[in-house]
Amino acid sequence: MTDFETTRAAFHLPQGVTYLDGNSLGPLPKAASARVTQMMQDEWGEKLITGWNACGWMAQPSAVGDRIAKLIGAPSGTVTMGDTLSIKVYQAVAAALQLRPDRKVILSDTGNFPTDLYMARGLIEALDQGHELRVVDPEQVADHLTDEVAVLMLTQVDYRTGRLHDMAALTQQAHDAGALAIWDLAHSAGALPVDLTGCKADFATGCSYKYLNSGPGGPAFIYVAPAHLPHVQPALAGWLGHDAPFAFDLDYRPGPGIERMRVGTPPVIQLAALESALDIWDQVSIHDVRARSIELSERLIERVEGACPTLTLASPRDPQQRGSQVSFRHPEGYAIMQALIAQGVVGDFRAPDILRFGITPLYLNEDDIDRAADILAQIMETASWDTPEFKTRKKVT
Ligand SMILES: Cc1ncc(COP(=O)(O)O)c(C=O)c1O
Repeated sequence: MTDFETTRAAFHLPQGVTYLDGNSLGPLPKAASARVTQMMQDEWGEKLITGWNACGWMAQPSAVGDRIAKLIGAPSGTVTMGDTLSIKVYQAVAAALQLRPDRKVILSDTGNFPTDLYMARGLIEALDQGHELRVVDPEQVADHLTDEVAVLMLTQVDYRTGRLHDMAALTQQAHDAGALAIWDLAHSAGALPVDLTGCKADFATGCSYKYLNSGPGGPAFIYVAPAHLPHVQPALAGWLGHDAPFAFDLDYRPGPGIERMRVGTPPVIQLAALESALDIWDQVSIHDVRARSIELSERLIERVEGACPTLTLASPRDPQQRGSQVSFRHPEGYAIMQALIAQGVVGDFRAPDILRFGITPLYLNEDDIDRAADILAQIMETASWDTPEFKTRKKVT
C-alpha cells in the first residue's frame, strides 16, 4: 500500500500554496536539489569530461528509460530518454510511416495537443510523398480507421478536458485496419496505469516534467515495441543513435535497439533531477495513485459543482473516462484562474475557456482539495476575479 504521507513529504511545496498544476509542471522533489548539486560539483565539477565514462552519463538515457518503462507497462530496453516530446513525436510518426509504406494517412483527433499535429504536418511536408493528416472528433476515431490509414496518432488523455481514450480498444481497431498506433502519454505517465505491452501499442512518447516531476524542460521518452525495433530507420539519425558513435563513421548505421532513437548529447543535469523524482516512484503503486486520484477528483467535482453553479464540468463525469485532471468551463476562465493563483491555489487556463486542475495524489490530499474548492467558491461568490489585473493575459497561461 502506498504511503502518501511519505510521498508528500518528499516534495518541496511552497508555504501557502495548494498546487493543482502538477499535470503541467510537477513540483520539486526535495532530493533533486541535493542530487543535482552533487552531480554538478562531484561529477561535472571534478570529473569533467571523464564523467561520461566514470559517472555513467552516456548510459543515463537507457537506464532512466528502463525505470520509466516500469510505469508504462513496457519491457526493459524499449524506452529511451532525450530531446523534447515534440521531437519524439516526430520520430515516432516518421518511423511508423516507414513501416506502412503503402498507406498515406495519419489519423488523429481534435483533442490532440497541437504540437503533435504540427509535427505530423511538418513531417508530411519534409517527406513530400503525398501523405495526409486527417483530424477527426475524438468520438469518431474508430469510424475513420480505413485501409488508407498508416498510423493512428493520439494523445491518450485530452490536455484540456482530461477525456481518456481506450488505448487497448483503439490500438486493436487500428491493427484490425492494418494501421499502427502511436500514443502520446504526456498526461498518462505517472497519472494512471498504462500497459503498453498489454495494449500492443506500436510506439509511445511522453514527457517527464508533468506527473513524473523532472522539472522544467526535463527530457521526453520514446517507446518502440520490441517487434518493430530492428526495423525502425530513425528519421533523425543523430550520432548517438549510431551503432558505434565513437567510430565517427561518415555513414549512419542505426544502433541495435532503442538506442537508435537517441539523437544527440543527453541532458545529464536534468536526467539527474529525474532520477531523484523516480526514486519516489519506486515506493509507489500506480494503482493506488489511480484510486486516490479518482477519490480526490470526485471530491473536487462535488464541491465545485455544489458551490459554483456558473462553472460547467468540462471533464467526463465518469471517472473511468477521465485522466488525472478535472476541468471546468467559464467564459471568464482566465481571470478566475488568476484570482485563484493570487490566493495560492495554482491551476492553469487553456483557451478558450478551460480552468484545469491537476490531481496528483503523491502530494495532494483532501485538505488541499477542500481549500481549493472553498477559495474558488468565495471568488465566484464575490466576483473578485472581475478586475483588469486578472483579465490581462500573461504569455504563459
Ligand atoms: C500531449 C502533449 N504532447 C506534446 C507536448 C509538447 O511537449 P514538449 O514541449 O516537451 O515538446 C505537450 C506539452 O504540454 C503535451 O501536453
